[in-house]
Amino acid sequence: MPTGGSDPVREAARLLAERRNAVVLTGAGISVESGIPSFRGSQGMWAKYDPMEYATLHAFMQSPRKVWEMLSEMVSVCGGAAPNAAHASLAALEEMGVVRAVITQNVDGLHQAAGSRRVIEYHGSMEELICVHCWKRYLTRERWTPGAVPLCDCDEILKPNVVLFGEPIPWLAQEVAEEEARTCGVLMVIGTSAQVSPACDIPRLAKDAGAAVVEINPEPTSLTASVTDIHLRGSASGVLRLLLKELSLDDETPSSESSGH
Ligand code: OAD
Repeated sequence: MPTGGSDPVREAARLLAERRNAVVLTGAGISVESGIPSFRGSQGMWAKYDPMEYATLHAFMQSPRKVWEMLSEMVSVCGGAAPNAAHASLAALEEMGVVRAVITQNVDGLHQAAGSRRVIEYHGSMEELICVHCWKRYLTRERWTPGAVPLCDCDEILKPNVVLFGEPIPWLAQEVAEEEARTCGVLMVIGTSAQVSPACDIPRLAKDAGAAVVEINPEPTSLTASVTDIHLRGSASGVLRLLLKELSLDDETPSSESSGH
């Protein structure tokens, strides 16, 4: 069961400050405050589009024009979104040397836009299109126009370079993510329902290797009772703001105490 003492934010900040090698796993929840809908729940993408019809590789190969109805919405929503305070807080934590990498299931590019430098895109990125026939790649912004289905020079329909159900995780992203998980001191899990494998296995991997697992989510998830050590209940932006504040106080305390005044 998650603990965290009487002040779980302070406890999480203490762990982050002591270990200074946190890795973060993010999901759609961190981008909700940027106006990008998450996947599950009544307002999620999968309430509008059945993932079996719209989000599998098989569906794309069978009916790419139909799948592009959903993809067009995702490209335009992601393309118009800006990072929010939660993305900015993670970039600040990396700058402070507290966070060393972000593993994201999101395909919106908002961590990089906020200034995070080490971002592992576990499910690919909407910023690139790939031809599933000749494998030529293009920048989405150079090839896609609203309402149109983008074509390769070979005339086949392009697919965003994101992982659809039935596709493997890009091997390098998977290798690096697992290595980060096995060697971090704290794994922060933010805004994911942790229902999609293998991403949802990353927290357990980190925990089995000795990391503390801190979860930031307004709701409990499949991890909360079994893997999470500290559940910080709330929005990503609100909780990260409190953590940053606590860490800034921590930074000030040792120097004044050690000077003996
Ligand atoms: P989900 O939609 O499954 O879960 C979003 C999570 O974010 C939920 O647990 C919410 O409680 C939480 N949440 C909502 N608002 C939040 C906020 N402001 N701050 C923090 N958390 C908040 O999205 P993912 O877990 O990311 O994969 O979904 C994982 C994968 O399933 C996606 O990458 C996608 C999808 O199918 C593929 O398409 C392969």
